[in-house]
Amino acid sequence: MAFNYTLDIIAEKDPYPAYRWLRDNQPAHYSDVEDIWVLTRYEDVANAFRDWKTWSSTRRGNLVNDIPDRVGKTLGTTDPPQHTFARGLVNKAFTPRTVAELQPRIGALAEKLSRDAREKGEIEFVSDISAPFNAAILGAMFGVPDEDFIELRHWLDDFFVREEAPEGETPRQVVAMNRLRDYLNELADARLANAASLPEDDLMTAMLRTEEDGRRLEREQVVVTTMTFLVAGFESTNNLFTNLTHALALHPHIYDLLKQDLSFVPAFVEEGMRWDAAAQGFVRSPNHDVVLHDHVIPENAQVLLHIGSANRDERQFDRPDTFDVARDNTRHLGLGRGIHFCVGAPLGRAMPQQLFTALLDASDTWEIDLESAERVTTPNFRGFWRLPLRVGN
Ligand code: HEM
Repeated sequence: MAFNYTLDIIAEKDPYPAYRWLRDNQPAHYSDVEDIWVLTRYEDVANAFRDWKTWSSTRRGNLVNDIPDRVGKTLGTTDPPQHTFARGLVNKAFTPRTVAELQPRIGALAEKLSRDAREKGEIEFVSDISAPFNAAILGAMFGVPDEDFIELRHWLDDFFVREEAPEGETPRQVVAMNRLRDYLNELADARLANAASLPEDDLMTAMLRTEEDGRRLEREQVVVTTMTFLVAGFESTNNLFTNLTHALALHPHIYDLLKQDLSFVPAFVEEGMRWDAAAQGFVRSPNHDVVLHDHVIPENAQVLLHIGSANRDERQFDRPDTFDVARDNTRHLGLGRGIHFCVGAPLGRAMPQQLFTALLDASDTWEIDLESAERVTTPNFRGFWRLPLRVGN
């Protein structure tokens, strides 16, 4: 059978049988329609994530058809030693303590949004829950005011779109990146202009201040890093939240189990990250020709490390298609692996854990309307841009 991987497969209702076919038949697949290689087995994907010396993030970036202007400037698109330096600084500014301190705020907000949802009965999950929740938590972390964040979130969505623009027009993703950068530059100016009265507790300020070995992050790097955090934070959490909401509607017995015992919520979130990965894949490019499964993947090729497929690999997980909150093996790749492992992971776990605990507690039904739902259409992420949900009568 001839098979050509296409980038829109991620937005299909059930792409998983196709991934399975690839794992069994063409684990190192070259799609000539997209000019991209796709690795789909757990072992290959995990090894490539770990082996940064072979698999570069900076040659072609880490997103499919990445925007050249950002490659080499963000955490996700640099290799050591540049990555080591920037990640060291970001780690300092983004400690587990930062997340621990945010926990009460996350909890209170999750409860308020859940109460409001219960009162309404029917909500649109993204605009009623996910966007305001992210605005108040991620926005606040970087000192972006709530009302600006709500506006900004559409640029965050557009950032991942890969559309050819009509002749003479700028592509949507580039417009979004430029707008975000202008906005964040103004924010950085305001921070620096008020250096004497800088609020201590936002991450942009912390990054503008932090020094290591007498070196600071360049101001442009702070702006680009903040942009990466907002983009990576909003898009991945929104996709994770909506995938969890969707998975729960498909598995009523899990809804019942969680309603009876909310202590299963963290396991539910973890299994959701495996079962329907929000970040379905990231790109790497080999620094030299690599021979894999009898194919030569040429130096500098664009290679998609397929997390969505690796997380369903039967060579790694028992009954991989079953959503099982009691699963023993939770070594999924939903947050990546190796030096680029998600720096926002503690927050990316804390937010859905608190949100779903509160929402489940407040709800007495869980029904989604797939007819009027709208799936995300980007080549890296899977989730929903619109997802109507009924949580009560
Ligand atoms: C819960 C949902 C999340 C998922 C599924 C997720 C997934 C991932 C994955 C798979 C990577 C690896 C990318 C690569 O190897 O090229 C990554 C990296 C990253 N994530 Fe997350 N993430 C989530 C939440 C967050 C949050 C909340 C933030 C920030 C506030 C964040 C910021 C980042 C950054 C900056 C990187 C790049 C790290 C580096 O290259 O060293 N993520 N994320």
